[in-house]
Amino acid sequence: MILVTGATGNIGSSLLKELRAFGAVPIKALTRDAAGAAFPAGVDAVEGDLADISSLTAALDGVRSMFLVPRLGPDAEIIDRARRAGVEHMVLVSSITVETHPHLGPAADNAAVEKLLEASGMDWTILRPTQFASNALMWASTIQAGQPVQVPYADTGLPTIHPADIASVVRVALTEPGHRGQRYALTGPAPVSARQQVGTIAGLLNRDIEFAEVAREDARASMIAVFGEDAADAVLDVTGGDVNDALLRVRDTVPRVTGSAARTFAQWAEENVDAFR
Ligand SMILES: NC(=O)c1ccc[n+]([C@@H]2O[C@H](COP(=O)([O-])OP(=O)(O)OC[C@H]3O[C@@H](n4cnc5c(N)ncnc54)[C@H](OP(=O)(O)O)[C@@H]3O)[C@@H](O)[C@H]2O)c1
Repeated sequence: MILVTGATGNIGSSLLKELRAFGAVPIKALTRDAAGAAFPAGVDAVEGDLADISSLTAALDGVRSMFLVPRLGPDAEIIDRARRAGVEHMVLVSSITVETHPHLGPAADNAAVEKLLEASGMDWTILRPTQFASNALMWASTIQAGQPVQVPYADTGLPTIHPADIASVVRVALTEPGHRGQRYALTGPAPVSARQQVGTIAGLLNRDIEFAEVAREDARASMIAVFGEDAADAVLDVTGGDVNDALLRVRDTVPRVTGSAARTFAQWAEENVDAFR
C-alpha cells in the first residue's frame, strides 16, 4: 500500500495519476477534506491532518511506502509514527537549496527533515527540486485583471521544473528498485527567466501582458506581508539576488531516472493557460 501526502497539491495530484497509469495499487491519498477532493478512480481518499498526529492512524494503516511533503506538521513525529506503523520506504520532497544555499532558513529546515528521515531506520529517497513552473500561478490574478506583472530579477534564468516531472521521479522511486538511499537534485531542461515565462503565457493568451522589473526592496515589502522576513529574503536570494552555479545548472536527473525528457516551462504553461484567462 502506498500513501501519498499533499495529494491535492502540485506534485501529489500528478503522482496519483501516474501511479494509476502505471498500475500501482493500492493507493491512499491524504487530504484534510476527503469530501472535497476529486481523486482518480481506484485511489482511496483518507482524511487526516499532518499537524495532528492522532488523525493519521487510519491513513498509515497497512502502508508500506509513502510520499511525504514535509513541514506541514511535526516531521519528527510523523516520520516516527510512519516507521512504527510499518512504513518501509519514504520518498521525501526537499529542496535543491539544501545543497545550493544551506545557510538560508528554509534550506536548513529541509536539511533537518532529511536528517530525521535518514536516521529513521526506514529506507529513503530524497528529492531536491528547483523552482517549480507552477510558481507562475502567483501571477494569475494579476494577468486575469490585465494589470502589469512586476518582478525583481526579471532576467535571471533558473532551470524551472514541471511538478509532473517531480511526480514521475517519485513514482519511479516508489515502485522500481535502485532508488533507495539516493538524493536527487531535480531541474527542468533549460533555464527560463520570469520575463520569458510571462512572454510564453502572453503568447498562449494571444495578448500583451505588461511586464516591469522592480527593485528588490519594493518586492520585499509586499513579500514580507505574505511570507515573513526570513522566507521573503530567502526567496529573493534564490530567485536572483544570490544565485550560484549550482542553482543555475541544468541537471540530467529527470531523464536519467524516468527515461523521458524533462518537460519544458512552455509545456506547463500550455497545460495551465486557463488559469491566466
Ligand atoms: N514551489 C517551489 O518552487 C518549491 C521548490 C522546491 C521545493 N518545494 C517544496 O515542495 C513542497 C510543496 O509541494 P507541492 O507544490 O506539491 O505542494 P502544494 O501544491 O503546496 O500542496 C500541498 C498540499 O498539502 C496539503 N496540506 C497542507 N497542509 C496540510 C496539513 N496540515 N495536513 C495534511 N495536508 C496538508 C494540501 O492538501 P489538502 O488541502 O487537500 O489537505 C495541499 O494540497 C514543499 O515542501 C516545498 O518546500 C517547492
